[in-house]
Amino acid sequence: NPRGAAAAPKLGFAEIPHAYDENLHVPQGYTAKTLLRWGDPIIAGAPDFDPLKHDAAAQAGQFGYNCDFVHFCPLPEGSGASDHGLLVVNHEYTDAHMIFPGFADGKAALEATTAEMAAYEQAGHGLSVVEVKRDGNGWSAVPDSRLNRRITLATEMELVGPAAGDARLKTAADATGTRVLGTMNNCAGGWTPWGTILTAEENVHQYFGGDPEATPEAANAKRMGIKGEPSYAWGKFADRFDISKEPNEPNRFGWIVEVDPYDPASMPKKHTALGRFKHEAATTVINGDNRLVVYTGDDERFEYVYKYVSSGTFDPAAGRANSTLLDDGTLYVAKLDADGNVTWLPLTFGEGPLTEAKGFKNQADVLIEARRAGDLLEATKMDRPEDIEASDKTGKVYVVLTKNDKRKAEQVDAANAREKNIWGHIVEMVPPMKDGRADHAADRFTWNAFIQAGNPKDPEAKAIYGGEVSDAGWFANPDNIAFDASGRLWISTDGFPDHGVHDGLWVTETEGEGRAVTRHFLGCPRGAELCGPAFTPDGKTLFVAVQHPGDEDGSNFQNPSTRWPDFKDGMPPRPSVVAITKDDGGEIGA
Ligand code: FEO
Ligand code: CA
Ligand code: CA
Ligand code: CA
Repeated sequence: NPRGAAAAPKLGFAEIPHAYDENLHVPQGYTAKTLLRWGDPIIAGAPDFDPLKHDAAAQAGQFGYNCDFVHFCPLPEGSGASDHGLLVVNHEYTDAHMIFPGFADGKAALEATTAEMAAYEQAGHGLSVVEVKRDGNGWSAVPDSRLNRRITLATEMELVGPAAGDARLKTAADATGTRVLGTMNNCAGGWTPWGTILTAEENVHQYFGGDPEATPEAANAKRMGIKGEPSYAWGKFADRFDISKEPNEPNRFGWIVEVDPYDPASMPKKHTALGRFKHEAATTVINGDNRLVVYTGDDERFEYVYKYVSSGTFDPAAGRANSTLLDDGTLYVAKLDADGNVTWLPLTFGEGPLTEAKGFKNQADVLIEARRAGDLLEATKMDRPEDIEASDKTGKVYVVLTKNDKRKAEQVDAANAREKNIWGHIVEMVPPMKDGRADHAADRFTWNAFIQAGNPKDPEAKAIYGGEVSDAGWFANPDNIAFDASGRLWISTDGFPDHGVHDGLWVTETEGEGRAVTRHFLGCPRGAELCGPAFTPDGKTLFVAVQHPGDEDGSNFQNPSTRWPDFKDGMPPRPSVVAITKDDGGEIGA
């Protein structure tokens, strides 16, 4: 494709076609190696995976289910190494009918859930931290490293920041309102300049049974989508997952959680200053004035984009002590106007409508009910904010909106410009310059439409790219994004199968003639969405997470639509992290 090559000068690979089959696909000249599969033992003493034996204690020592966010942390810490490190991986959720044999679908498995199944599901959630190494045979995991860790629903965590200790965070098991067991629905995430990881608690409403209407938290529960119709039966076996018995437990989920991957004994922290909603990601930037800025979105139809600005400044010499920057600062929600301006509106108790007259007693209430605060501030209702990343080359910020099929004509606005948006789009936000650097802490940015995804040959889609894309270069339903070391923007998708094409990975330049001209790099096995992506510091390895392979309408443990990656009879498909390298040893995508 010489024309494509000219339009995107820094992308040197041979594009792969759109497809939909049982395999994972990468361009010619690249090798994809499955590195970590659901059930692989990672903690010393954990047994090998047995697809017919679902023991919670075993799963708690094995790689968890449905891998999502991935980040590579060099070893030794601070070395910048690209051949040795820790992979931190989120395990967003479990699919009971794909895990346990004998159920036609998720509903059948839900109804039949036993205490043992619930315990297994809880052990399959959370995160894995795994030491990985690259040698002459490529990447491999170090299965019994003392640095390896599983975090599950049983891992003790600390609530910190302005809402910690608030009455609405106290439960029968925790009279202090500062200690929580576990994290759930960890979707995307981010990392901090001091070496830790941020993991985003997203669809936490799915885990709580019981009747919210009969509790003091009824309105709050409703705004978070907690309706007493959980996707998991955990409330049958533990009071804390039944909102009628423990109305405050849901308030202890829906936060950004900080994990120190280098210290397996460290207690994760839920940073309440970043607000409670269905967090997708948490992207940090050190601003020109050394304050820390964190971008985070709320992934649901008609929800908001947020940023947090710390009060204090980052001190490189202070190491992990910089963590307190996440506890004292201002959370803002975004209003994107038709004139191209972004206004960041502070979620500060006592300011504007965020007062006792509107039912907020203090800052804890504003943070626990961040969505309602955003409603009152009249923030812009977006088409499902997924990942957000800032380019460290240009300072521009990319906000991924995955789709919103419920947007009606009268709800169309400048930043969400399509009715029944089944394709998704990416908004570029531009901070003002201050002393020659992007000022991420500023109250006002500008914005423009970077990409409106969809098929440019389909007039109904009203797709917009930066130039002509090839037949394989167009995509739909962007979800996670990542910048590589050279500033290329990688876009992974979730939902493209609704348009007849595998989910996967597309890549574009953000500046110059290749700006917003995407090309297709990787395709998922059927049923899967693609998560990650993450690079080593040298840009020579790309890690991706293949989530829910083989899970389509009609699929179950007995009858998955693919048995990737093992392709063995009786072996279910296994959500896995894949390491991709270029056969000539060069930079991915170049
Ligand atoms: Fe878990 Fe927003 O995708
Ligand atoms: Ca996601
Ligand atoms: Ca990302
Ligand atoms: Ca998604």
